[in-house]
Amino acid sequence: MEHAAQPLVARLAARQAATGVIGLGYVGLPLAMEFARAGFSVTGIDVDARKVEALNAGESYILDVPSEDVRAAVQNGRFRATTDFSKLAELDTINICVPTPLRKTKDPDLSYIVAVVEEIAKYLRRGQLVILESTTYPGTTDEVVQPMLEAQGLKAGEDFFLAFSPERVDPGNARFHTGNIPKVVGGLNEPSTAAAAALYGQIVETVVPVSSTRVAEMVKLLENTFRAVNIGLVNELALMCRDLHINVWEVIDAAKTKPFGFMAFYPGPGLGGHCIPIDPFYLSWKARQFGFESRFIELAGHINGAMPRYVVERVGEALNSRCKAIRGSKIHLFGMAYKPDVSDSRESPGLDIAQLLLQRGAVVSYSDPYVPVAEHGDLKLTAIPVDEAFSRGIDCALITTNHAAFDYAELVERAPLIVDTRNALRSVSGAHIFRL
Ligand SMILES: NC(=O)c1ccc[n+]([C@@H]2O[C@H](COP(=O)([O-])OP(=O)(O)OC[C@H]3O[C@@H](n4cnc5c(N)ncnc54)[C@H](O)[C@@H]3O)[C@@H](O)[C@H]2O)c1
Repeated sequence: MEHAAQPLVARLAARQAATGVIGLGYVGLPLAMEFARAGFSVTGIDVDARKVEALNAGESYILDVPSEDVRAAVQNGRFRATTDFSKLAELDTINICVPTPLRKTKDPDLSYIVAVVEEIAKYLRRGQLVILESTTYPGTTDEVVQPMLEAQGLKAGEDFFLAFSPERVDPGNARFHTGNIPKVVGGLNEPSTAAAAALYGQIVETVVPVSSTRVAEMVKLLENTFRAVNIGLVNELALMCRDLHINVWEVIDAAKTKPFGFMAFYPGPGLGGHCIPIDPFYLSWKARQFGFESRFIELAGHINGAMPRYVVERVGEALNSRCKAIRGSKIHLFGMAYKPDVSDSRESPGLDIAQLLLQRGAVVSYSDPYVPVAEHGDLKLTAIPVDEAFSRGIDCALITTNHAAFDYAELVERAPLIVDTRNALRSVSGAHIFRL
């Protein structure tokens, strides 16, 4: 079928289009590398000059992206990074992958998207495709992005194309990566969806077109709200099981042998990362504007948000069993990243727990092979090697992240007391081990 995006679709199919990615972080950099690997010319734009410099020197700062990939893409001329937004004028496609955090009041902070769209609007020209990938509330693409881009007179869906495509990348996942995770695409109109699907069709195995940008925006929020709510449920179950003297981990392991109708989620010290603790509140904020109260989201947020305090309570109980108090005890955290084998400590529960322990007078230290410095409000800690922690002396070891790199056998042997919030010591028992 002939439509306005046909010439762009043809250029994309021939991989002759000039692609661009704005925001070269956990989402944007892997995406840019996929475009380069497929043979596209890729311009990566970021406001962080250090990142741009590192990439142009062939160095990656994202664990899942090997430096060799960046070096190869720079050397074969397919990828260049820049802080210069005027390069947007040369591009056929522009993917926006900038942060979408919450304000202190838990309202969406769209300032990064707005800053980027202001730049795109300056250089927008006929035939370009703009795709928003940052997670956001339904309506952002057509209520916020579209009017800003149309302000110069070009019409979305006719003169240029606009779509939303949620990013599903799971840092640290060895099995699923950009290329083999199906990509949902919702355009402003049919030509926009067709253009976006043609772009992703070159780099991912499966493209899933949906009828609108709002559906695509909502898909991502359903996925992450589903996780937040189920984690909230299982965290509540963990608290309940403790009172009932039942091992919650054993319950989950047995339940997951059911081959249908059950999906395992695990309790933990609290939510972390740039997605699960944040995204559901984008949705509840938007729903509130329509007078709708998202009770599941609020309840899950309440339960998950209370987990760091619960962990501190468990540490208190563990120390109490040795006639010790939190005040003055040396408590060493194993892990500051929000999940195993990644370097991301944004919103990590380890940060809250460290802060709560410090407020109670503990002497807090931590080890994390991927997070050299932990900063959060007035908290600033520098990681120390595990050996150094043991030689300084540990009253209680607290497993906050189950990194594969930790030597758990050594930990069980050398720590006098352990609180394990991740079931990292599942096959070990001992009077000195306290589980969540
Ligand atoms: N990290 C994940 O696992 C993940 C997964 C799915 C979706 N997301 C979503 O993707 C989006 C990006 O997340 P991320 O984890 O990649 O963030 P990130 O912080 O790792 O990367 C964002 C990048 O954008 C850059 N940036 C900020 N303002 C800019 C501007 N005005 N112009 C150009 N560059 C700018 C930053 O310097 C940074 O390099 C968010 O909406 C997030 O919710 C993240």
